[in-house]
Amino acid sequence: MRKHGRVISGLVGFGRACEAWIDVHASFVLYCLPPKISNTHNAWRMANKNLNAAKTAKKDEFYTQMKDIERELQHYWPHFRGKVVLCNCDDPYESNFFKYFALNFNLLGLKKLICTCFDGSPVLGNELLLDFGDFTDEPKKMAYKVEITEVKDLNGDGAVDLADVQYLLRNDKNAISLLRQHGDFRSAECIELLKQADIVVTNPPFSLLREYIGQLIKYERKFLIVGNVNAATNKDIFSLFMHNKIWLGYGFNAGNAYFKIPVKTKPDYAAGVYNEETGLVKFRNCHWYTNLDHNKRHEEIDLVCHYSEEDYPIYDNYDAIEVSKTSDIPCDYAGAMGVPITFLDKYNPDQFEIIGATENETTEEVRDLRIQGFTKYDRPYIKGIRKYARILIRNKHPKNL
Ligand SMILES: C[S@@+](CC[C@H](N)C(=O)[O-])C[C@H]1O[C@@H](n2cnc3c(N)ncnc32)[C@H](O)[C@@H]1O
Repeated sequence: MRKHGRVISGLVGFGRACEAWIDVHASFVLYCLPPKISNTHNAWRMANKNLNAAKTAKKDEFYTQMKDIERELQHYWPHFRGKVVLCNCDDPYESNFFKYFALNFNLLGLKKLICTCFDGSPVLGNELLLDFGDFTDEPKKMAYKVEITEVKDLNGDGAVDLADVQYLLRNDKNAISLLRQHGDFRSAECIELLKQADIVVTNPPFSLLREYIGQLIKYERKFLIVGNVNAATNKDIFSLFMHNKIWLGYGFNAGNAYFKIPVKTKPDYAAGVYNEETGLVKFRNCHWYTNLDHNKRHEEIDLVCHYSEEDYPIYDNYDAIEVSKTSDIPCDYAGAMGVPITFLDKYNPDQFEIIGATENETTEEVRDLRIQGFTKYDRPYIKGIRKYARILIRNKHPKNL
């Protein structure tokens, strides 16, 4: 414990240095916990470890950058006043989500911020401060939660900043406590926290997105989370889009999402995905999923094209026309149209209705659109050539020219 004390005391004056904030997390958690709990928990952890699960978890380690969080969150501020925010896939000492809400706690007028940390994720960076025996290549951390109900100038330096949050965590033993059930978002104790929360904001594990969204819907929580946009084609998630229970947010800059990955992760990405200099991976297919209303979803797509039989062929197997780009949607077509999944980024529910998807038997309407003789719910075909999977939409107010 003395070793951990040294690490912490070495951080005096670290103030606004956010990177150091990330690096000290493991030792600091131990430092904050009464030794008895810490030892008991160690023993418990040792008995419950699962190396394979941890290795799988490694694939979920993508850390969201502060600038991307700021960029998206700026559009939702009015939703947060007086609200309890939960970040339930977030080690406060690694997560920029925690940092963002802690720093903006007063400006947003939050009632409470809760962050929970999963004990299966490897430590970001090189700090192997916790030793868990035979997990030598797999640095471990502990499952714990942080709850904050106010952020004031506790250290008296005239500013309210991360140094005050750190002071709070160090001195208020109610602010930080261990979780008994690994910090898995599906665990009973995390579900209890979910029930307390008004809005959940995080980047959840990529591999569990469907389950994660399913849980948010089940408990009827508001949320703003990062996810792979391809998941929108999943039958269950797509149905939520269709019924306007979920929609996309503003999105990453130019559609490019850059995430930090743990230094220890050996990246085996295709060329151009991982940048060794920055330690960032770039994904083109990430977006924000939300059920918080925002202005962009009420902006109409400017429809400048006109329908013609030549430009918009009808599918062989569906009574719908092919529109290969969202910007090409004709302003004057009243029937069903097949559009790419990227349409969801521009979808305004006052302008269009989503009636289904070509590969999902999602609605009676899709069944009715199927041309006689085609029994399978398949991708659309044009003159016998199989096309991309499409979302089927209809213009609510087509121009009558
Ligand atoms: C994509 S990373 C994002 C981390 C952080 N939210 C951020 O945006 O920087 C997903 C995080 O969820 C954690 N995680 C994985 N499985 C989890 C589970 N079942 N319950 C809670 N968290 C989990 C991972 O360890 C990882 O830290």
